[in-house]
Amino acid sequence: MNDDYLKLGSGYLFSEIARRVQAFQAGHPQAKLIRLGIGDVTQPLPAAVITGLHAAVDEMARAETFRGYGPETGYEFLTAAIAKRDYGARGVSLALDEIFVSDGAKSDAANIQEIFAADCVVALTDPVYPVYLDSNVMAGRAGSPDASGRYDRVVYLPCTAENGFEPALPARPVDLIYLCYPNNPTGSVLARPALQRWVDWARRQSAVILYDAAYEAYIRDPEIPHSIYEIEGAREVAIEFRSFSKSAGFTGTRCAFTVVPKELEGKDADGQPVSLNALWFRRMSTKFNGVPYVIQRAAAAVYTDEGRRQTRAIIDAYMDNARIIRQGLEAAGLAVYGGRNAPYIWVKTPPGLSSWDFFDKLLNDAHVVGTPGAGFGPSGEGYFRLTAFGRREQAEEAVGRIKARLAL
Ligand code: MLT
Repeated sequence: MNDDYLKLGSGYLFSEIARRVQAFQAGHPQAKLIRLGIGDVTQPLPAAVITGLHAAVDEMARAETFRGYGPETGYEFLTAAIAKRDYGARGVSLALDEIFVSDGAKSDAANIQEIFAADCVVALTDPVYPVYLDSNVMAGRAGSPDASGRYDRVVYLPCTAENGFEPALPARPVDLIYLCYPNNPTGSVLARPALQRWVDWARRQSAVILYDAAYEAYIRDPEIPHSIYEIEGAREVAIEFRSFSKSAGFTGTRCAFTVVPKELEGKDADGQPVSLNALWFRRMSTKFNGVPYVIQRAAAAVYTDEGRRQTRAIIDAYMDNARIIRQGLEAAGLAVYGGRNAPYIWVKTPPGLSSWDFFDKLLNDAHVVGTPGAGFGPSGEGYFRLTAFGRREQAEEAVGRIKARLAL
């Protein structure tokens, strides 16, 4: 067996929360829980997506239009739409073979580390989406955890209210850095000059930035970049992950993509340059057989005029929830962050309550499920995350219940 798996923290964060919630529900069958824990969407797929899906299913029923294996990196009708609408519209030019369509940003963000050396030094923001850390622990790259849960080979970059949730550049040499903006879990964003600093640093260090932009559709501020490739020099140093999960409700439908520019090179053991695009193609064509045709058609429908209008309306509704939660909790006297350009609201726990204490209090007293900040890393201790992905009435009711319980 792989001993590195034994170095993982107890359970995957969201599985652990699901386990605790299930246990609570079993003991309190009457409790009407409001689940604002895992960032899972609740609104149905947009009508344009459903139409695209139906048409594609019908195509699969006819010999003349039936499809078997598709192109390894995705059908051109989808990659061309991505290149034009997501990137071209922002002045970023991508070749279609720089886009790799996949079943999820989670899987890609977890798998990408395979193409890097086993002894690479990895830097992570802290708190962080647990997949980046756990996948490197599994690969033996993280070392061993100390009592606080920090792994000795990982460089942690604390992001707290004290530094405005903006990570400092690493103080020692690092090969890989995972950046997620808009950020999960803190809901913070990186302005253009800050992102430019990271790109410049990566160029100086010959480091690679693994940029998770799964929440870019939630950006409201026109000054905030949606893609790292809007930043000069980023094509030489950055891989970007995108997803249809949070932008178009595909958490259960599964479609995403990863961009690996051709300029991006690593070095082999002899110091010779190696194309990361070629390595990722090799990896994906060996271990993945592509996203189903019908799902890629559904994803392409997101880029039609109707699809764009409908997805925009869904995102607006979630962002309205974010506002309701943010304003409600502020009115209850809590320090609240995020929720302006991201679907996550990051709350400072009341004095004397740890992240898990607050989780238990809200679960037991208010029947509201959130995510303890400590589950995202040591610097998440003392914080708590709520998502805006519920229904509006759930957001309103959750805020009402939390206010009532905190007043006691
Ligand atoms: C979260 O709650 O952090 C997200 O749902 C995780 C994910 O997208 O995998």
